[in-house]
Amino acid sequence: MKDNALAMTAKPRTAILFVCLGNICRSPLAEGVFRTVVSERGLDGAFEIDSAALGGWHVGEPPDSRSVVVARRFGIDISDQRVRLIMAGDFARFDLIFGMDRANMCRLRQLAPEAAHDRIHMLMAFALGREEEVPDPYYGDEADFLAVYGRIREACEALVERLAARDGSAASSGQASSTI
Ligand code: 4NP
Repeated sequence: MKDNALAMTAKPRTAILFVCLGNICRSPLAEGVFRTVVSERGLDGAFEIDSAALGGWHVGEPPDSRSVVVARRFGIDISDQRVRLIMAGDFARFDLIFGMDRANMCRLRQLAPEAAHDRIHMLMAFALGREEEVPDPYYGDEADFLAVYGRIREACEALVERLAARDGSAASSGQASSTI
C-alpha cells in the first residue's frame, strides 16, 4: 500500500496532554501512568501522550525525584521526561488537555483560545465523574506522592476504558473531539 493510502486509512491517534503547575510532580506521573495503562491494554499507537507545565521554573529538568521513586515502585520509569512549558500550539494539537486541579483549570482557560475550551478538563472529573483535584504534592512527603499516584492511576485506568469504548463504538472523524 502506498504511504498516502496508508495515511488515509490509518485511524487518527487521540492526542492527550497532561498539565500541572511545574511539570515535575503530577503531570509527568500522569504521562507515565497513562502510557503504561495504554500499553497494558495493547493500545500502543492509539494515543499521542505528553505533559507540560504552566510555570517555567523547572524547564528542561527531569521529574521531581519523589515522583520518579513512586513511579518506579509501580514499575514505571519516568526519569527520561523533561519539563516543558505549555505553548499556544498545544491547544490546537491536543484533543484532550487535562489539568490536575482547579488552579490549573483557571490558568488553562486563560491561556487557551475559546475554541479549545471544551477540550480542557480536570482529570478526575473527566475520567471518573468526580470533581476532585489531584492535589499539589510539592511541599508534601512520600505519603502525599503515594496518594497522588493512587489518584492518577485510578483516573488513567478509567480514562483508557472510556476512550477505548468510544473508539470501539464510534467511527472517529479525525477531528479534535470534546464530547467523548
Ligand atoms: P507539579 O508540582 O505542578 O505537580 O509539578 C509543583 C512543582 C513545582 C512547584 C509547584 C508545584 N514550584 O513552585 O516550583
